[in-house]
Amino acid sequence: MSGHDAMHEDPVHETPPTDTLAARGVVAGRFASGLHPALDAINRCFEVDRRMWREDIEGSLAHARMLGSTGIIEPEAAERIIAGLRQVAEEFEQGHFVDRPDDEDIHMAVERRLTELIGEDGRRLHTGRSRNDQVATDLRLYLRAASERLVAGVQRVQQRLRVLAGRDGECVMPYYTHLQRAQPVLLGHVLYAYVDMLEQARVDLARTPRECPLGAGAGTGTSFPIDREQTARELGFERPAPNSIEAVASRHDATMTVAAMASCAVALSRLGADLVLWCSREFGFARLGDAVSTGSSIMPQKRNPDGAELLRAKATVVSGALQRLLEIQRALPIGYCKDLQEDKPAVFEAEDTLLQMLAIAEAMLGDIAFDGQRMRAAVEEPGGYVLATEVADWLVKRGVSFREAHAAVGLLVREAEARGVDLASLPDDVLAAAHPRLDGSVRAELSVDAAVAARAAVGGTAAANLRRRLAEDA
Ligand code: ARG
Repeated sequence: MSGHDAMHEDPVHETPPTDTLAARGVVAGRFASGLHPALDAINRCFEVDRRMWREDIEGSLAHARMLGSTGIIEPEAAERIIAGLRQVAEEFEQGHFVDRPDDEDIHMAVERRLTELIGEDGRRLHTGRSRNDQVATDLRLYLRAASERLVAGVQRVQQRLRVLAGRDGECVMPYYTHLQRAQPVLLGHVLYAYVDMLEQARVDLARTPRECPLGAGAGTGTSFPIDREQTARELGFERPAPNSIEAVASRHDATMTVAAMASCAVALSRLGADLVLWCSREFGFARLGDAVSTGSSIMPQKRNPDGAELLRAKATVVSGALQRLLEIQRALPIGYCKDLQEDKPAVFEAEDTLLQMLAIAEAMLGDIAFDGQRMRAAVEEPGGYVLATEVADWLVKRGVSFREAHAAVGLLVREAEARGVDLASLPDDVLAAAHPRLDGSVRAELSVDAAVAARAAVGGTAAANLRRRLAEDA
C-alpha cells in the first residue's frame, strides 16, 4: 500500500497520507483522512490472528444462525451468510485466502471477503455484536483447541517416561538433594516424578473456558433481542458470560491456560537439566541416541545434549509469555482496551514453544539408553554414605530417639571418612563407641537394595510401588 512508502519519507515533512482511506475499511465513515502508516503498522494484527480463522468463522456461523432464528435478520439472509462463511473457510483451508492491506485483523478480513462473495448481506453479519465480544469468543474457542493439542503432547511425553520406567526403572541410582548424593532411589521413581509433574500440568491444560462472551457487544450488551443461550450452547460453552464487561475485558481463561503451559514448560526444563547432567561424562548415567545428539564444529569427540539444554532455555519463552499476559492486563481500566490485542502473540508463542519442547522431549526419551552399572556404581561409591539414614533408622527402631541417632551416625560418618571406608566396613568397637545400642547386625541392612525396598510406604521408591504404578498405567 502507499502508506508503506510514506514511512520512508523524511519524517519532518511527512504528512499523513490521504490516499489510504481504504485502510479505514468498515469504519471509514468517521474519518476524513487515511490511517497514518505508523498506526496502521502497529495496529494491524492480521498476520498474528489469522491463525484463529477457524474459530472466527465458527463464531460467526453461530452468530448468523442465531440472527436468522431470532428473526433479527431475514432467515434467507442468514442462510446466504452461512454459505458465504463456509466458502471463506474453504479458502483458508485450501490456503487460497488472499488478504488485503486494509484487513486489520482476522475479523475484518473474514467479513470483507464474505461481503465480496455474497454482497450486501455480508454487511448484516455484524448486527448485535462487536469485535470486542467476537475476539474474546475466538480466543476462548482457540484456547480449547490449543488445550487439546497440548494435552496430547504431554500425554506422549508421559507415555515415553512410563515406557522407560518399565524398561529400566529398577536400576538403582543416587537420589540427590542440593545435587549431593542423598539416598538410593530407583530410576523408575525419578521418571515417575516427571510423569506426575506433567500430570498436574496436563490437568490444568485440560481446563477449558466455560463462559461464552459472544453477545456482550462492545461491553454493555446489545439492544437486539439476541439469544445468547443459543450461541453459547452451539459453540460448546456451558453458558453465556453473565457480565458483558467482564466478557470483553477479561483474559482469565488465556491466563490460566498459559499458566498451565508455563508450569508444564518448567517441568520439561527440569527434565532437561537432569538429562544434561545424566549425559555428562561425570555422571555417565545416560546416553542420547545420534539423532537427538549434536556435535561440535571444532571438537570431533563431542556429543552434546542440545535438545535438553534448549528445554531449559525455551521454558523461559513460555514463562515470559505468562508474564507478558499478566502485565498486559495489570494496569488496564475495566472494559476493552487495544492492549488486549497483544494477548494473542503471547498465547501463540507460548503454545508454539511448548509444542516444540514436548516434541523434543518425546524424541529424546524415545532414544535414550541408561547405564545401570554407572548408576549403581555412583550410589554404591563408598564416599557417598547414602546409607547413613538407614543406620539412624535402625537405631530408632530399637528405641533411640531420631535426634540422638542422627548425632551418633554423624560421628560414624566422620570416622568412616577419616578411615576412607564405608559405614559397613567400620569395626564393631567403632560402632559401639558411636552409640551403645549399635552392633554389627546393622550391616545386614546396609545395602542400597535393602534401603530402596524398605521405602514401601505410599509414594516411596520401593520396587513394589513402581510395579504397582506400571500395572495401573498399563
Ligand atoms: N483485533 C482486535 C483484538 O485482537 C479485535 C478487537 C478490536 N476492537 C476494537 N474496538 N478495536 O483485540
